Amino acid sequence: MHLDPVISQALNSQVNLELASAYAYFGMSAYFEHEGLSGFAAWMRLQGQEELGHANKFFGYLLDRGGKVSLGSIAAPAMTFDNTLAAFEVSLNHEQKVSAAICQIYEQAQTAKDYATVAFLKWFLDEQVEEERTVSDMIAKLRLIGTSAAGLFQLDREAARRAEGPKG
Ligand code: FEO
Repeated sequence: MHLDPVISQALNSQVNLELASAYAYFGMSAYFEHEGLSGFAAWMRLQGQEELGHANKFFGYLLDRGGKVSLGSIAAPAMTFDNTLAAFEVSLNHEQKVSAAICQIYEQAQTAKDYATVAFLKWFLDEQVEEERTVSDMIAKLRLIGTSAAGLFQLDREAARRAEGPKG
């Protein structure tokens, strides 16, 4: 099955976006570590590792389909944030951008009648639903606790448990 050049280019862009996601999460992880919030730091580190896995999946698929590889540069991520909530809001915005990019490739694949790519992207669509929901849940909790230091301490511990345990 010949890979349409439009799809090939879109998959290359997605490799870049997933790597940029990993970089963004590593930046957040470092920020939280400096803030003494090791639970959030571990959460973001885990997110970053997952993004590396996503980039690897897209890269592998591109190669499997004989697509032309064209790897772009990755900009430095944000390293400072106003507070914990602000960092998670950046995370949600980023995930929404990733979801939109995947939906766009999905549409392009459908237009090109590239059903293998449509099938390949299904896992990522499900993954994005989960990622957006997990981050949204944390944002809701952060808004609830407001400026409570005790609340933040509690959520940091909760984040640590998520990072230690099975994904979810
Ligand atoms: Fe791979 Fe969080 O998007």
